[in-house]
Amino acid sequence: MSTLLLARGLWKRFGAVVAAADVDIEVRAGEIHAVIGPNGAGKSTLLALLAGELRPDAGRILFDGRDVSRLPVHKRARLGLGRTFQVSSVISSFTVLENVATAVQARSRGIVRLLREAADDAELNDRARRILTRLSLGDAEDRRASDLSHGERRLLELALALAQEPKVLLLDEPLAGVAPGESERLLDVLRSTRGTLGMLLVEHDMQAVFRIADRITVLVYGRCIASGPPETIRSDLAVREAYLGDF
Ligand SMILES: Nc1ncnc2c1ncn2[C@@H]1O[C@H](COP(=O)(O)OP(=O)(O)O)[C@@H](O)[C@H]1O
Ligand SMILES: [Mg+2]
Repeated sequence: MSTLLLARGLWKRFGAVVAAADVDIEVRAGEIHAVIGPNGAGKSTLLALLAGELRPDAGRILFDGRDVSRLPVHKRARLGLGRTFQVSSVISSFTVLENVATAVQARSRGIVRLLREAADDAELNDRARRILTRLSLGDAEDRRASDLSHGERRLLELALALAQEPKVLLLDEPLAGVAPGESERLLDVLRSTRGTLGMLLVEHDMQAVFRIADRITVLVYGRCIASGPPETIRSDLAVREAYLGDF
C-alpha cells in the first residue's frame, strides 16, 4: 500500500519539555496505525503537528506526495488530511442526520449554508444516511445530538469527520470516556473503515489498540522507541519496560 502521510525528523519543544524528539511516522492508504505511549509522551502533540495546529521546530511532513509542512490546518484538511472534530463541532440542537448533512454540504460546496437548505436537499441527506449506516448510527438519525450517549456522540464526531472524505484521518483517543459496551461498537466501526482510509489512531486502551492496529508506534518522552506490527511491539523489551507490565 502506498504511503499517504510521511513525517520525518519532527521536533517540538515547549520550554524545557521535548514533546517530539526526531519523530518519524507514516500512514499508508487503508491502514490503521496506532500511536501509544504513557501520559505526556507527546501523542497529542504529534497529531497537532501533523494536522497543522502546531508548527514543528524542525522536520518535514509530506502528504500525498506534497510537502505540507507549512500549510495551515484548513489547507491540509482540503487535501484530505482529516481529524476528528472537537466536541463543539457537533451542533447539539440538531438531529444526528442534520449534523451530518450539514457537514456533507460544507464539504461539497465549501461553505456552510443554513440548515433549512440542507434539510431540503435529498441528495445531501442520502449521502449523510450512507455515512450513518456505515457507522451503524442509522437508527439514530432523528435523535437530537444532545440526547446521544457519550459513545454515540463519538460516533457522530466520526461521521462528521468522514463527511469530509479524508484520505487519512487523525484520531485522538476516540474511546476515552466511552462505556465498555459502547467502546466495542466504536471499535467495530473503526475496524470496518480499514481499507477505505488511512488512520492514525492515538489510543490509551491497549487491548483495543492491539486488536485493531495494523501497525503500532510507541512514543516515550517525545521519542519513538519502537514501531512495527502488533506482535513485534508486544514482545519488544523496551516497550514492556516503558509500560512496566501494562501488557
Ligand atoms: N501547549 C503546550 N504548552 C506547553 N507544554 C505542552 C503543550 N502541549 C503539550 N505540552 C507538554 O508536552 C508533553 C507532551 O504532551 P502531549 O502531547 O499532550 O502528550 P500525550 O498526548 O502523549 O499525553 C507534556 O509534557 C505536556 O505537558
Ligand atoms: Mg494526549
